[in-house]
Amino acid sequence: MPVTYDLEGQKRVYATWAKFYDRIYVRLLARAQREAVAAACACGPDILEIGVGTGLTLPYFTPGSRVLGADLSLDMLKVASRKVAAQKLGHVRGLMVMDACRLGFADERFDAVTAQFVITLVPDPEQALAEMDRVLKPGGEIIISSRLVDDDAITAPLWAMLAPLAKAVGWSTDFKVRRLTDWAASTNRYDTVHVGKGYFKVVRLRKRPDAA
Ligand SMILES: C[S@@+](CC[C@H](N)C(=O)[O-])C[C@H]1O[C@@H](n2cnc3c(N)ncnc32)[C@H](O)[C@@H]1O
Repeated sequence: MPVTYDLEGQKRVYATWAKFYDRIYVRLLARAQREAVAAACACGPDILEIGVGTGLTLPYFTPGSRVLGADLSLDMLKVASRKVAAQKLGHVRGLMVMDACRLGFADERFDAVTAQFVITLVPDPEQALAEMDRVLKPGGEIIISSRLVDDDAITAPLWAMLAPLAKAVGWSTDFKVRRLTDWAASTNRYDTVHVGKGYFKVVRLRKRPDAA
């Protein structure tokens, strides 16, 4: 069955969210965002942040990094751009409108690719992962943080209470970790090196140094 891309709908949703996203999510997402950023910085300086949004993650990168941020929503990027200027985040080398499934970068351009709280919004996550793979250097990592469900999950009451907040921002409540680790295994070129615990998880997929 063909995947339907409602990219315009997604942009409309985030045009509204751009105005108050930070106030709601800055603390809620910080732990996973910091963990993902630290893992990315450990891979090397050239980092692509897909679905960078309002740039909540951008202050967490080390000054020596060179970060490019891509997002579907110009409205979210405008907030990120103001943040970069106000906080003088010189390691942020560019912010651009781009679909995760069609990245406008050369092959093997980045040491790490992060996608934080976005993979569950993309209609074709495997296509987005394939694009991340294309632009990632061998030895680098794809680092995903998101609301990810344990493969053997039974929904705990606390998580059920948080579900409306997750749904409001468009997160899936049934995206399993396995969808990422299965993709990694299917490539024969990636190893799953970390699967975090808790409601918001960080998953790290490392591209083998000898990957063709
Ligand atoms: C929940 S926000 C996360 C923002 C940021 N990564 C964070 O951690 O705060 C999701 C972001 O993904 C973007 N997005 C949704 N679909 C996308 C796609 N197909 N390609 C690129 N960005 C996308 C939205 O515009 C929005 O800015």
